[in-house]
Amino acid sequence: MAIFLRRSKFKLYLDPRKTNSAITFTLKRLIMSSCSRFEKIFDDLQTNPYFKKYANKISKLQQTNPVEFLQRIEEKERIIKKKKVISRCLKSTRNLQLSWNYSQLWKLKTIEKISAVKAYSQLASEYKYITTPIFYVNADPHIGHLYTAVLADSIARFNSMQNHIVALNTGTDEHGIKVQDAAKYCNLATNQYCNKMSKIFKKMCETFNINYTNFIRTTDPCHYDTVQYFWRLLEERNHIYKGKYSGWYCVSEEAFLSSEDLIEKVLPSGNVIKVSIESGHTVEWTEEENYKFQLSKFQNDLKYWLKDEKVVQPRTFHRILSQWIDDEIVLKDFSISRPINRVSWGIPTPNDKNQTIYVWLDALINYLTSLGYPNEKFKKFWPPTVQVIGKDILKFHGIYWPAFLIAAGLEPPRTLLCHSHWTIDHMKMSKSIGNVISPFVAAKDFTPEGLRYFLLRNSNLQKDCNYSAEVILNVLNSELADTFGNLISRCTGKMVNPMNQIPSIEIYVNNLTSEPAMKLRNNIESLGKIAQQYYESFHISYVIEAVMKTLRSANLMVEYHKPWLLRKKTDNLDIIELNSVIALALETTRISAIVLYPVVPDLSSNLLNFLNVPIHARNWCNTQPKYLNSLKSAKSKPLSSENMILFPKIKLSTKN
Ligand code: MSP
Repeated sequence: MAIFLRRSKFKLYLDPRKTNSAITFTLKRLIMSSCSRFEKIFDDLQTNPYFKKYANKISKLQQTNPVEFLQRIEEKERIIKKKKVISRCLKSTRNLQLSWNYSQLWKLKTIEKISAVKAYSQLASEYKYITTPIFYVNADPHIGHLYTAVLADSIARFNSMQNHIVALNTGTDEHGIKVQDAAKYCNLATNQYCNKMSKIFKKMCETFNINYTNFIRTTDPCHYDTVQYFWRLLEERNHIYKGKYSGWYCVSEEAFLSSEDLIEKVLPSGNVIKVSIESGHTVEWTEEENYKFQLSKFQNDLKYWLKDEKVVQPRTFHRILSQWIDDEIVLKDFSISRPINRVSWGIPTPNDKNQTIYVWLDALINYLTSLGYPNEKFKKFWPPTVQVIGKDILKFHGIYWPAFLIAAGLEPPRTLLCHSHWTIDHMKMSKSIGNVISPFVAAKDFTPEGLRYFLLRNSNLQKDCNYSAEVILNVLNSELADTFGNLISRCTGKMVNPMNQIPSIEIYVNNLTSEPAMKLRNNIESLGKIAQQYYESFHISYVIEAVMKTLRSANLMVEYHKPWLLRKKTDNLDIIELNSVIALALETTRISAIVLYPVVPDLSSNLLNFLNVPIHARNWCNTQPKYLNSLKSAKSKPLSSENMILFPKIKLSTKN
């Protein structure tokens, strides 16, 4: 077969009417890169046994629009590439348990698995790395720790629902003086103490459905190696030097503080001490020889990184960080090692056994260890997509961390999501005040999912939020039990729906033209889009409010049509109206459950199981009402069981 290429004019032309063996291409004014691509594509096409059969079609397509033709080819290649990613992922799932879609996949029947993978492979796009801070093991978990983890988990789940490949990292921060002291206080060997405490944090993650990919401990041997590797890299790149240091050290914050960070306090004895403004803990004057990091060199790099306001959210924290970066005192070179006789519980510096690596450098590197760094495979997930942190550790993540990374030749995180704190009676949670709330105790009163819901519902990233049992009780009862739960029972109860059916929304949707029904349709048609924007801007409480607004509108629609009265009537039109009300209300619950999945994964999954929604139809694209889909199913479906209680009302007597 002969192929002629003329590259001078705009169109590419394949003429199948020429002799079987001679096909002419006319290629007109295409950019050079496209020309060489065409040549390659046609070389490949010729080897295809069906080339002759489809020559006509190919010819037509090329005549109409060669650019579109190239795009089509590229799209096909993209899909093939993604399929390869999927199969690689499926193979490596044992090591890297991907969140949601993949972890769920293994529970499916083969046929469902195939269609889920198929759906995934067509849409899967990016690798996303989400992290929580790793928790100090010097005290038990409290609701502040849980909040940080739940926030990160909900962001990770939302990303999984969009078919991204997500890794969520969490774990425990186990080195340093305060852990050393806490172990001594408990009369335990430090490693035994760490094992015990780390398990409790892991249990917190499991109890509250934190779907982590990796739970790292800074005492893991692989972390030891990574930290030493990173140290050597900084040394090789001349960012570390040895010097003397003297200053006020705060053990609680594991940091040297400047005079602006301190206030004086007069003790009852009349003695004056200095305490940290941030933590309220006493500081001690410390003089020592250690290694320093040349932070001052990175001011411009940090400014460049901060140019994009989205790298630190919300904006309040971006502003704070920008001011710090202009402050020479904050950007002073700082110590990144401690003499081993002061801090023995740490990772030794590789070339000087008399020093241990500063706990914050050690801890921050966990985000790299978790991905297998320095093994090249870490690059897939690098840089981190969202790193969730509390406001107290903004300086470490917003200054030290990006500076360390840039110094090592790595890209800093795409987004630091900084949140404020939970207070009790508007006071800081503290062991000494005795007002610390254990998530395990709170979960006994409000259930793990109830607590997740409340923490995300009543939090505000920019302002401290107050934790109150009374408020939780009201929020859970009025929203989950009443607004959401009642809507489900109203449409599935024996009296209204004795056959346990989900009438087809596609058939019945146009039968309801009442104002409340039209309003509800508007709501469900826009809910997915609105919620997506809120998730993407990390306004999770707004997501929940948007769902509640939709559910309230569904309840108004039900009250307006009164299905319990319609059921008693025998007229055909009444039966149609009844089915329409049930279909629209249940469609609202289906969409709401999918939108709320990142917030309350168990409650949402229970409801979707009840509605017989297959696992592969629980992605973000499924938040669109079914009647707008091109794939319409006209059949009614059965509910999976007779009864469904979404969230049992919490009685006052169970409180406390
Ligand atoms: N170990 C460091 C983090 C190292 S990350 C490389 C640490 N640990 S921590 O256990 O003290 O805190 C963990 C997270 O919990 C931090 O994000 C912190 O802001 C958060 N919270 C601690 N108290 C909190 C509240 N009262 N409310 C909300 N979050 C709070 O810092």
